[in-house]
Amino acid sequence: MNPIRHMAIIMDGNGRWGLKHKNSRNLGHREGLKTVEMVIKYCVKKKIKFLTLYAFSTENWKRPLKERSYLFRLLEIYLTEKLEKLNNEKIKIKILGEKKFYNKLNNLLDFAEKKTIRNTKLQINLALNYGSKKEIVYAFNKLNKRSKISENDINKNLYTKNIPDPEILIRTGNTQRLSNFLLWQAAYTEIFFEKKLWPDFKDKDLNKIVKKFSNIKRNFGKI
Ligand code: IPE
Ligand code: IPE
Ligand code: MG
Repeated sequence: MNPIRHMAIIMDGNGRWGLKHKNSRNLGHREGLKTVEMVIKYCVKKKIKFLTLYAFSTENWKRPLKERSYLFRLLEIYLTEKLEKLNNEKIKIKILGEKKFYNKLNNLLDFAEKKTIRNTKLQINLALNYGSKKEIVYAFNKLNKRSKISENDINKNLYTKNIPDPEILIRTGNTQRLSNFLLWQAAYTEIFFEKKLWPDFKDKDLNKIVKKFSNIKRNFGKI
């Protein structure tokens, strides 16, 4: 059995789901929150310590303002409503990415991080305005006075410092690419591309992937 400390997810397919079922991409994003709740419960139940959710990429700024605004409002409402409950469940919130939204949301994200900083049951890393290349550049800029840089120096200066690399990465939505997500950290991650759109992804689908993962022989270069 391979242990899972860290599960990372590219939650893709909300827009297509929304168009198909509600004639609105935005309503697909709203529906996707139900899958987020399911995954959080799953991680708590299975004692997975880190869950990283790709929620908004540095490239997603290219989307129309109407969709961006909806996504940010959705996050704001969700956190405002759920923060107390998450905190009571001893869940820690950490943002991966630069908080460059509107003031109210930036402050709420800061507040959520501070409020939950001592929680140890599950750490949810919300990748927001996250781009892996930007993160690596950020790490290098912090290091640029050093003469010789080690892998560990880079690890310690990424947004993910003190977070173990993910053992498992799932992308829903029937697309097989990483879209600038955890390029450094996923060097040895087991990757699962799932056909289902994010709102259609259920706990039995997650279970299937975890079962498959547990039977993989993870070589890390050995035989
Ligand atoms: C959600 O899926 C990912 C976010 C950027 C919030 P999409 O919005 O990319 O959905 P599709 O891929 O267009 O269906
Ligand atoms: C990746 O999904 C980003 C998030 C899930 C937040 P996208 O839908 O933005 O990725 P591309 O543009 O299809 O690569
Ligand atoms: Mg997409």
